[in-house]
Amino acid sequence: MNIQAPRGTYDVLPDQSAKWQEVEQKINNLCRLYQYKEIRTPIFEHTELFQRGVGDTTDIVQKEMYTFQDRGERSLTLRPEGTASVVRSYVENKLFGMPDQPVKLFYTGPMFRYERPQAGRMRQFVQFGVEAIGSKDPAIDAEVISLAMEVYRAVGLKQLRLVINSLGDTESRVAHKKALVTHFEPSINEFCSDCQTRLEKNPLRILDCKVDRQHPLMATAPSLADYLNEESQAYFDEVQAYLSSMDIEFVVDPNLVRGLDYYNHTAFEIMSDAEGFGAITTLAGGGRYNGLVEDLGGPESPGIGFAMSIERLLLALEMEKVEIGQSNNLEVYVVATDETTKKKAFAVVRDLRLNGISADMDFAGRKVKAQMKSADRKGAAFVVVIGETELESGKVALKEMATGEQQEMAFEEIAASLLKKKSLEE
Ligand code: HAM
Repeated sequence: MNIQAPRGTYDVLPDQSAKWQEVEQKINNLCRLYQYKEIRTPIFEHTELFQRGVGDTTDIVQKEMYTFQDRGERSLTLRPEGTASVVRSYVENKLFGMPDQPVKLFYTGPMFRYERPQAGRMRQFVQFGVEAIGSKDPAIDAEVISLAMEVYRAVGLKQLRLVINSLGDTESRVAHKKALVTHFEPSINEFCSDCQTRLEKNPLRILDCKVDRQHPLMATAPSLADYLNEESQAYFDEVQAYLSSMDIEFVVDPNLVRGLDYYNHTAFEIMSDAEGFGAITTLAGGGRYNGLVEDLGGPESPGIGFAMSIERLLLALEMEKVEIGQSNNLEVYVVATDETTKKKAFAVVRDLRLNGISADMDFAGRKVKAQMKSADRKGAAFVVVIGETELESGKVALKEMATGEQQEMAFEEIAASLLKKKSLEE
């Protein structure tokens, strides 16, 4: 029997990993510019963290968690998202005591959700996320949103749509909740059993239901926008003003509720408008979670963040036909004609690498012609052929593959010559 990767998982093979590395590099660089520092939390956590942090009534907690008992009979869960873990760590490590609030953090790593796999929806996927904890300044909301947009811009995506909404503060939400219950209660029997539970526990979740999406009461449901109190509206206005000051375009969608319980005030999603995308067009999602730090045992520390999967980012690049990941191609392939010249080739390859130039050679006993083909396949920018004549004269021709141009030089000069060319290019 052949064993395959589990459903909803996949291997990143060498021809794809360069793209991942380039994306991650751009992310790391942007986070440095914006001064978000990396945090690495465990892949699994106590199940209770997600029940309390993400919320008991969410799809994630109810249907999608990979939960297991370890040998010590603790209930553990593979993290379905990063925010709960980061907030746990913020509380546990007393990061709220650091003088520079907000604490600005980012993470990149695998998350796990038992979902029905399809294009852009995996059971193991990699999220890049940021969390800014310890500030309720609308400017930080705008900064977080702009960082998300900047990641997509940096990789070359253009067809993006930023959708924002305000979920208001507790007072606004309580008023809206009441209105929702009044609206749905008389006909709740026509809704799925999940929605019936949601009516009691978290009626806002009903608007997010995939089963009852078409029910006529959905379209006429009271909108949160009509229940925002003055303070919440003022906060939302300021976030919008900051976004506009950066010339970031956005659409306000009062129906954007997001699928996790911890949100209030600002909520946002970034969608791809690229042609050919399947049903799932959301590239990133995030929002404010004032109160979550307190819920997990810390002092009042309002937070905001977002997460995006690298898988969906790569899918969007494919749809927009943007090529990335060419930066780690081979610079020099050294061809040897026999066993004696191979020894020299081996030394040349090592010397190039010590000088910071990527170099490779044949390790499969190929003839010269086949080595040339191999160099071509590997995308080598330059080729050096070492034969008996070259060994005797101490000189080789450095051939540039793109132009066919050859330049003769001593073995010792190859690295210096290439480094000079590189510095001229830069
Ligand atoms: P989320 O909306 O559940 O939010 O996920 C954020 C992003 O993760 C999605 O927009 C999508 O790019 C990606 N994603 C989610 N599920 C999958 C999947 N099954 N396969 C591939 N990609 C997926 C959160 O996770 C929040 N923690 C975001 C956040 C951070 N809010 C505040 N801070």
